[in-house]
Amino acid sequence: MTAHNLRKMLTAVDRWYRRHARVLPWRVGPEARDQGVKPDPYLVWLSEVMLQQTTIPHAAPYFEAFRKRWPNVKKLAAASWEDVSAAWAGLGYYSRARNLYACAQVLAQRRGFPQDTKGLRELPGVGPYTAAAIASIAFDERIAPVDGNIERVVSRLWAIGSDGTEKGWRAAKVEIGERAQALADALPADRRAGDLAQALMDLGATLCTLRKPNCPICPLNPMCAARAEGEPEHYPAKAEKKAVPTRLGSAYVLVRGEEVLLVRRPPSGLLGGMMMPPGSVWSEEKLFDPLEGAPGKFAWEHVGEVRHVFTHFALKLDVWRAQAPARAKAAGEWMKAKDALAALPTVGRKVVALAVGGGNRRDSAS
Ligand code: ADE
Repeated sequence: MTAHNLRKMLTAVDRWYRRHARVLPWRVGPEARDQGVKPDPYLVWLSEVMLQQTTIPHAAPYFEAFRKRWPNVKKLAAASWEDVSAAWAGLGYYSRARNLYACAQVLAQRRGFPQDTKGLRELPGVGPYTAAAIASIAFDERIAPVDGNIERVVSRLWAIGSDGTEKGWRAAKVEIGERAQALADALPADRRAGDLAQALMDLGATLCTLRKPNCPICPLNPMCAARAEGEPEHYPAKAEKKAVPTRLGSAYVLVRGEEVLLVRRPPSGLLGGMMMPPGSVWSEEKLFDPLEGAPGKFAWEHVGEVRHVFTHFALKLDVWRAQAPARAKAAGEWMKAKDALAALPTVGRKVVALAVGGGNRRDSAS
């Protein structure tokens, strides 16, 4: 790829972004950037952490709520984990919330954000993608963050595919990363790396989509190798996904008037640090006694089953409910059922909603 061709691509993407950049709550658009408005690294960081594994429509209300309640990193660091975890509930992948909170503590101790990838990488929970995204979007470092959208755009531009094996896909990913970086390196001195990163993200999200790429109106159409081959949607051919196993378990909803009993899960591991109704272990074998581990001796009745898909397994929970007398004591915390529906991770909401009614029954990887 000659420098000339890279420049042509960059010019086409830049023109397109100036006209079609999505308006997003964490974004400083190209016109505002021209006028000197700088992105706030706190908001860029917050949005990037929220957007990992989450769609923009799902993450946006959480972003707005966090920004309003904790407008800067000092405020977030001073918040309690109980409040932060409850505000995160429903966004999924709870280790992100734990890292976000830990990272806020570190950032509050220093003066401002590290301003380059190397410094950002030293923060808790900031991996290569997040560091590159923040460095490019907030500080215009010429580094290429490669998220799913950029990966697809770049793989099509250069027709980089794989044979569907793990090994083939690993090699393809390396090449995609190198091509994306070559684009960032070729940026003329007066162009912003943050605009390039976000332009490629937007292209992938709106035109160069997974199933039906809108090639006729794509600014990169004349330069796209996958389009020239005729079947761009065949790129990138990733490694086949393995089927996920199913785990089984029980969840126990102890009801006391309008309240339900909740326990906080241990700090690490799946749903770590989050509130949940008490439950059994989850295992691939059916429980010998479905009430093993139920809190106290109550008249438990089986009310149904909840399914939830996590990244590495599908969970099938038998939901049990019992009424506790007005002043009953049990290990854990009583919370109004309607508050629990807001403060629990999605799987916990499903359990409580089934046991006491209310809430939605979305299936998601949260
Ligand atoms: N996905 C992840 N980060 C994004 C951003 N800054 N803009 C648009 N989509 C994104």
